[in-house]
Amino acid sequence: MKSSLALLLAPLTAVAAPTAGQAAESIDELIKAKDKLYYGTCTDQGLLTSGQSAAIIQTNFGQVTPENSMKWDQTENSRGQFNLAQADYLVDWATENNKSIRGHTLVWHPQLAGWVNNIRDPAELTTVIQDHVTELVTRYKGKIRAWDVVNEIFNEDGSLRSSVFSNVLGEDFVRIAFEAARAADPDAVLYINDYNLDQPNYGKTQGMIRNVAKWIAAGVPIDGIGSQGHLTAGLASQAGATIAALAATEGIKEVAFTEVDIVGASQQDYTAVTQACLDEPKCVGITVWGVRDSDSWRAQNNPLLFDGSFNPKPAYNAIVDLLSS
Ligand SMILES: *[C@@H]1O[C@H](CO)[C@@H](O)[C@H](O)[C@H]1NC(C)=O
Repeated sequence: MKSSLALLLAPLTAVAAPTAGQAAESIDELIKAKDKLYYGTCTDQGLLTSGQSAAIIQTNFGQVTPENSMKWDQTENSRGQFNLAQADYLVDWATENNKSIRGHTLVWHPQLAGWVNNIRDPAELTTVIQDHVTELVTRYKGKIRAWDVVNEIFNEDGSLRSSVFSNVLGEDFVRIAFEAARAADPDAVLYINDYNLDQPNYGKTQGMIRNVAKWIAAGVPIDGIGSQGHLTAGLASQAGATIAALAATEGIKEVAFTEVDIVGASQQDYTAVTQACLDEPKCVGITVWGVRDSDSWRAQNNPLLFDGSFNPKPAYNAIVDLLSS
C-alpha cells in the first residue's frame, strides 16, 4: 500500500516544477542566445547530493567549476597518491547533464599539500608540478573545456607573489605548468586566473596584462585570463572597462568572469557584470561562485543569485530581463 502510493505520487511531484527552486527562465539559455558559451556556477559532490543545487544547476546553469575537489590538498595530499573520487563525481555529473566544465585549479599556493611547500630543489619541484598537472589534465582530457592552470600568482601591485613555486623556480613555474597542461590535453583552453582584476588601472590588473603578454610572446601557451569577480557593492561599474583591458592583452584568445559573487547582490551590479561580458567579444561566459547564499564562502554578504531557501533573487530576475531584451 505504502509503496504503490509512493509510485503514484512520484510522477505527480515530478511535473510540478519549477517549485524546486529552479527559476522559470534559464540565464544559461539566455546568454547562449547572445552567443556566449555559458552562465555557470561552482559546486561539488556534497552540494550536488543535498538540497536543490543539482536541480537548479540542471535547469538554470550551463557550466560547473569544482569549488574544492580539484585543489592540490584534495587531489594529491601525498606525493604520487592521487585521490580523485570527488573530482570524478563532479566531472561525471557534469558530463551526464551536458554541462561545460572549468577545471580549478592546478597550481595555487593555498589549499596546497604540505609536502609541496617543503620542496627546495628546482629540479624536484619542476617534476612535481609536471606530474601533478599531467595526472589531472590527462584524466579529464576531452571532458574539461578550460583549466585554471595557475591561480592568484600576483601581488596587488602586479609583481609575482611569494610562494614555494616562485621562491624555488622564479617565474619559470608558469611556463612549466602551462607546457605540461598543453601537452596533456592540447584541446583544453588554458587560463591564468586571479582576483582583484576589477579596475583597469589597478596594479594587479596591469601586472597581469604586462606579464601575460610577455609570457605569450615567449611561447608560454596561455589562452585565457580569468577574472574571479569577488566584488564589493558598486565595483561592477568598472567590470566592462576592466574585462576589455584584459581581453586586449597581446596574444590572449579569451577571457571570462570565473568566480563572481557580489556583496549585497544588487541587480545593478549583477547586470553590469553580465553586460560587461556581452560587450566584450572575447568574453566566453560568467561563472558565479555558488548557487545559494548560505553555501557561499561569503555567506554573510548574501552575494549570490539564489537565497538560502533556493529561491531566485531579484538579481537573477534582473539578469533574465537584461538577457531577454
Ligand atoms: C549540450 O549543450 C550544448 C551547448 O552547450 C548544446 O549545443 C547541445 O545541444 C546539448 N546537448 C544536449 C543533448 O542537450
